[in-house]
This record gives sequence, C-alpha cells and structure tokens, in this order.
Amino acid sequence: MHAVHSPQYATSPSSFLLERLKLIYKSDETAHRTHSQLMQIVERRLAERSADLRQLDRARQAQPDWFTGNHFMAYTGYVKQFAGTLQGMHKRLDHLENLGVNYLHLLPFLRMRPDQNDGGFAVEDFLNVEPSLGNNTDLQTLAAELRQRGISLCSDFVLNHVADTHQWARAARAGHQDAIARFHFKSDSERTELEQHLPQIFPQTAPGNFVWIPELGQFVWSTFYTYQWDLNYANPAVLVDMIDQLLGLANLGVEIFRLDSAAFLWKKPGTNCMNQAECHWILQCFRAVVDMAAPGVLLKAEAIVPTQELPPYFGQGDAQGKECQLAYQSSLMAASWFSLANQDTRLMQHLMRTLPAMSTTSTWISYIRCHDDIGWNVLKADLPGEQMKDLVYASRFFSGELEGSYARGLTFQASSPDAVHGTNGMSSELLGWTSDETDAENRYQLMTALMFSTAGIPMLYMGDELAQGNQSMEHAHQWTDSRDLHRPNFDQKLLDRSKETGTREYRAMEWIKRLRRLQRQHFNAPNSSALKVIDTHSNALLAFEHGQVQCVFNFSAKAVDYRPAGELPLRDLLREKEWTEGVVPPYTALYLSPTQG
Ligand code: GLC
Repeated sequence: MHAVHSPQYATSPSSFLLERLKLIYKSDETAHRTHSQLMQIVERRLAERSADLRQLDRARQAQPDWFTGNHFMAYTGYVKQFAGTLQGMHKRLDHLENLGVNYLHLLPFLRMRPDQNDGGFAVEDFLNVEPSLGNNTDLQTLAAELRQRGISLCSDFVLNHVADTHQWARAARAGHQDAIARFHFKSDSERTELEQHLPQIFPQTAPGNFVWIPELGQFVWSTFYTYQWDLNYANPAVLVDMIDQLLGLANLGVEIFRLDSAAFLWKKPGTNCMNQAECHWILQCFRAVVDMAAPGVLLKAEAIVPTQELPPYFGQGDAQGKECQLAYQSSLMAASWFSLANQDTRLMQHLMRTLPAMSTTSTWISYIRCHDDIGWNVLKADLPGEQMKDLVYASRFFSGELEGSYARGLTFQASSPDAVHGTNGMSSELLGWTSDETDAENRYQLMTALMFSTAGIPMLYMGDELAQGNQSMEHAHQWTDSRDLHRPNFDQKLLDRSKETGTREYRAMEWIKRLRRLQRQHFNAPNSSALKVIDTHSNALLAFEHGQVQCVFNFSAKAVDYRPAGELPLRDLLREKEWTEGVVPPYTALYLSPTQG
C-alpha cells in the first residue's frame, strides 16, 4: 500500500518530513535515518488500517475543510465520571446525539499511573486502555459505534511527558542509558540556572520544574507534577516511538488527537522553554506522518498561550496548513469570564479585533469550561497595565470571596491573595445559577450563546448542558487537586429531570439544543477571520457580525441601549420574535437577523 498525496504539500509529505527532521536534528545523517524509520512505520500502520477508516480518510481528503463551519459541536468529559467505563459510554450516546454533539473528547483513558495520575495525564502505556475503564476491544467497539452515529472520537495524546511508572522511566531509574536519554536529566547547578526562566504550572502542589532522582544522583525535568517526566525530543527515538504510538491509537478509531501541553516540547536554556521553533517542527513531523498514514485524522493543539502565540500552531510560512488543524481559544474563554466579573468587555473587544487571520482549514475550539481551571495568566499579554488589578478582581470574584459575588468557585494554585493563577468550579456555580434568579439563567444563556457564535467549534463540558453543580466539598479532604471541584460524576437524576417541562435542567438542555439548531442554520464561517466586530459605543456590550446575524452580548447587570445598523425590526432568533426595543436587557445575548421580505 502506498502513502497518499496531500494537496497542501508542494512536493510530498515525505520530503517535507525530511526537511523538518533536518531542521530539528541539524544532522543530515540523523534526519535520513529517522526519516527512513518513520516511513517504515507509515507503511506498517497504513497496512493495518481498517477498510472503514481508509474510506473515512478518502472522504476527508476530498474535502480538507470538512471540520470547519458549523459541522461540529463538541463535548468533553472523563469516562469514569461520565459513564463508569468505556462499555458504559454506550448508554450515554443517545443523550449526546439528542444534544447535537458529533465530536466527543474523552479525557485520558489509557493505562495510567496507579494512585495519583493528574486525571490520567500521567500515562503508563500509550497503546493500552486503562484496565479499570475497559480494554482495547471496548475502545474499538465504541469508536466504531460513534463513527456509525457520525460522532468523531477525540483522545488526548500526552506527548510532552510520561508517568514515572512508564517503562521508559523505570528503565531510566534502573540506569539504562537508552532510557536515560529519553528524558532531561540535570545537575543541581544546571537546574538552578534553567529554573530562573521557567514558569510554574502548579506552584503550590508541584513547585519547581525538576525532581531529584536519588538512584541517578540527578534531577529530572518535570514541568507538571513530579511524577510526570518530560520527554526529550532532541532524541529522535522519542519522536519515532511517540508518532508510532499515536498512529496505533488512530488505527483503533481515534479521529482527533488533543496534543496535550503542546507548547512545552522543546527545551532551550535561557528561555521559558515554550513555543520554540523546534516545538513546531516536531508537531509538523507528527502531521506529515499522519497525513501519510491516517489522513482523515485531525490534530488539535492544547497550547494555553496568548492568542498572538497561537498562529504558529496552525503552521506558518512554508508550513501553512501543515501543523495542527485545531487549537483551543483559551484567551477568549478567560476573557469572557473576566468581562462578566468586571461587567466590561473592552478586553474581549480588543481580542476579537486582533484575532489572528486564519486559513480556511483551521479553526478554534470555543468553550467556557473544561476539566482544567480558568487560567488567568494567559490574558496578561493582552491587558493594559492599569487593568491588571481587574484580573485579580476577576479571580477573587469567582472564588466567591468578594461581597456581592454570585459565584461559588475556588482559586487554584494561588500562592498569595494577590496572585492571579486560576479558578475552579462548574459553570453553573461560577454563574450563580444555583437559585432561580433570572439574571443567573441569563448569564448561562449569555456565555453559552457566545461560544456557539464565535465561529469556532463549540465545546461543552460534561454536565454543563444540565447546569450541573460542583462536586460536594464534603470529600474535599480526599482531593489531590482542587480541580476535582468541577470533576463530579455525571448526575443521572438531572438528566431524568431534564425530561420534565419547565425544570431548570429542561431549560438548560432546550437552550443548548436551540443554540445548536441556530448554529447549523445561520453560522457557517470557517473560523473567526470572517467575524466583524461592531462598535457599540459601550463597554458593557460586545457585538459582532457572523454572516447575516448580529450577535450582541450585554455583560453587565444593567440594560444597555444598542442601535443596530440596518432597519428595525430585526428578528431575535434566540427568542423567535421580532426585536424592536433598541435595548439589551441585563446579561442578555441576542442573535439578531434581518426579517424576511
Ligand atoms: C494539560 C491538561 C491538564 C494536565 C496537564 C499536564 O494542561 O489539560 O489537565 O494537568 O496538561 O498533563
């Protein structure tokens, strides 16, 4: 079987791959050797790919922008919390289809470190399912059933690090040179020098970026928890093995890979070791190989970096269209919460006006919550100095510690009361939708309507469609990570109640279904490049045009005048009625379209 040609490559993915390997390893000999190993993997993985998946590959190659526009609505959650096991997932599929979901991101389900494992992000074995969740056959069966229903399965691929119990880490500890060379081992003085430039991801629970390994008398690089050891991509064996494993999972039916912590792959002393050129070349190698061996598969960058740093993750210059097709828009996400707390949309307006131009074969994931905290630091690059205090305010606001705050979240990893790190909590609690107050329901509608209209792939976090609340604090002493606050078990009772007209759960579900319907009917811009920000002359309002529709959001507790371009009446698509008022009620979203005829 032969590798397929992909049109975005001037020559072929194979020669592009070779060029990138030369750039990374700066040695023709290493590049050629690595290239030939990767091409053998392509042949092997292509030969084992099923007829079904090959058919999907061909259909998607014929339409390279198949995933943009209003095609997808995504949903993300942990297998255990959502359904117990992979087999249990089958009973949830009608619910997902009912919502209009056709992109399902299941958080890590591969064999994980026993005991603490960062929600499965400390992987022990990339080719086998975590036994407590099922086995590889269960995964294949689920992927096939999803495919039949038109739902694409997305899996994490934790390519930056492995668990300290992974066989490579065990062998390194035992002194095997081959394995030692797969990690970054440093002396005390080296690590002290490196630390000066490195960020702290978990400053409270895992301070520093290195951990002492007594068996080897050295420190090993561990950006995240001490039991997650960063891989050394300067060693081509790491790249080859990781790519091979990703293809193995693709052949089990994974259609989209969330490339976890993608910004950290390359270490360059004296820098913050994020977003390095080599990091992009590595991702481009993954893509070139995927384009040859599993061309229907999409790559999504989990790079939680300021918006201006994101374009390279889609590929730039001669790499345009040859890196990831998808990336998280974490700045807009955090900025929407910031706007809500401060009742001021200037930051969002600025972000939306300066969103990078994008090609038609790339798009964002738009979301309001996920399994992680809302990270505030990502906004610092876009916030004028005098608004920095507003960031501290937002973080304290959502922890509920400020008088008058409706929110019930927790600060994450803050080392002092003035530090701005992250916020935890389910969206309904952060929005104060725990009582029947109208403003709270409006805030839920506002934030969800925003994510469906910004021309990315809207992504719901498990339970948000039912306005599910935080996990009970009763067991908080057992948590190893305060992000557990928003990692409750899916509440079946809420799903049952959503079938009774008028209940809160019913209203939440109906609202999300309506947003999905309107997305399908009215929004089909490939990505945010097509949006036009409207000048509203108000700090409380955010407004933009998406196609024919004016999307207007009042982030404040007061009604605000809005004088739309064009003639009244307009049609309020969200409420299915004419809109003549010229006023946007508190915390309200409007999708306004010209009336017919
Ligand atoms: C990503 C995950 C996060 C995890 C980290 C380390 O940011 O989303 O949950 O802690 O990677 O793997």
